[in-house]
Amino acid sequence: MVKVAVCGAAGGIGQPLSLLLKINKNVSELSLFDVVNAPGVGADLSHINTNSKTAAFVPSSKEDKEAVGKALQGADLVIIPAGVPRKPGMTRDDLFNINAGIVKSLAEAIADHAPKAFVLIISNPVNSTVPIVAETLKAKGVYEPKRLFGVTTLDIVRANTFIAQAAGTSPSDYNVNVIGGHSGETIVPLYSLGSSKKDFDALSAEQQKELIHRVQFGGDEVVQAKAGTGSATLSMAYAGYRLAESILEAVSGKDVTECTYLNLDSSIKGAAEAKKLVKDLDFFSLPVKLGKNGIEEVKYDILNQVSDNEKKLIDVAIGQLQGNIEKGIQFATK
Ligand code: NAD
Ligand code: LMR
Repeated sequence: MVKVAVCGAAGGIGQPLSLLLKINKNVSELSLFDVVNAPGVGADLSHINTNSKTAAFVPSSKEDKEAVGKALQGADLVIIPAGVPRKPGMTRDDLFNINAGIVKSLAEAIADHAPKAFVLIISNPVNSTVPIVAETLKAKGVYEPKRLFGVTTLDIVRANTFIAQAAGTSPSDYNVNVIGGHSGETIVPLYSLGSSKKDFDALSAEQQKELIHRVQFGGDEVVQAKAGTGSATLSMAYAGYRLAESILEAVSGKDVTECTYLNLDSSIKGAAEAKKLVKDLDFFSLPVKLGKNGIEEVKYDILNQVSDNEKKLIDVAIGQLQGNIEKGIQFATK
C-alpha cells in the first residue's frame, strides 16, 4: 500500500504528474492537494480504471489547515510542484519571494502529517527551496536527509535528448549524469563520462560548448516558447514521475541510481566525501543509490573522474550554489 500526495496538483505540472501516478501500479492511493481546482482534477482522474484510489483536497479559506493535513496524512511519498512558474526575462531566483513561503508552509504540514514520507521538491528555485524544506523539517524535529530529494531529473532528460539531437542518435542510448544544482550555470552535464563519452568527444569544441549551454539554459527555451503562459510542465511531469517511480522501485527492492539535489549530510554514506570535493557545500546534485530508506549512498567518485572543462564548470556552479543555499537557510530560520 503506497500513498502518494501531490501538492500543487491542479497546476501545469501537477495535472500530468498526477495522471502518470494514477497509472502506476505501485501507487494504491493518490492524494491531490491544491489551493484551487483540486476537486475537479480529482474527479477527472478518479474515472480512470486503475486500482488506485483518488482523493482531492482544497482549503475552504486561507486559514483552513485541515485540508492539507487530510491530503498528507500518512503519505509515503509527497511531491511538491506548488508555486509560481517563470515568465520570459525572469530567473528562477526571481520566484523565491513567492515560492519560498509556499514551500515552507507545505514542509510544516508534511512534518505534522507525513513525517516519514519521501519528499520530492520541484518548486523553483530548487537550489534554495530544498534547503528551506530541510531547515523546516529540522526545526520540527522530523528531518531525515535520506528522504529529501530536489528534483533535477529534467536536466538529465534534456541532456539525453539534446546530445541525441546533436549526434544524430537516440536519447535512449544515454543516461547522462547532470550534477550541481538546477539553474543556469549551476547545472553541469557530465558528457565526458559513461554512455555519452564517445559521441560527445566526436563533436567539435564549438558543438560541445553549445550542447552544454543548451542543457544549462534548456528551461529558457520552453519559457520563451510559452511566451508568458508558464514554463516546462509536460517534460517536467515526465521527469518528476521518473524520479518518483525510481524511488518506489527502490523501495520494492530494485537496484536504482538517479541524480538528485540532496543534503550532503554525514549520515548518508559517501556524503562527507562528496562535501569535501564541493568546497563544503551542504547541498549538491549527484548520482545516488536508492534503497528502502531513500538515499543509500552518494556516488561521489564521479567528481574525481570529470574532464578539465567539467572541473571548471563545477567550480562556477559551486560559487553560485553557495549563495542560493544560504538564502534558503536564512529564509527558513529567520
Ligand atoms: P502552475 O502555476 O501551473 O501550477 C502551480 C500550482 O501550485 C497551481 O495550481 C497553484 O494553485 C498551486 N499552489 C500555489 N500555492 C499553493 C499552496 N500553498 N499549496 C498547494 N498548491 C499551491 O505552475 P507549474 O508550471 O506547475 O510550476 C510549478 C513550479 O514548478 C514552479 O515553481 C516552476 O518554476 C517549477 N518547475 C520546476 C522544474 C524543475 O525542474 N524542478 C521544472 C519546471 C517547473
Ligand atoms: C525548467 O528547467 O524547465 C524549470 O526549472 C522551469 C524554468 O523556470 O525554467
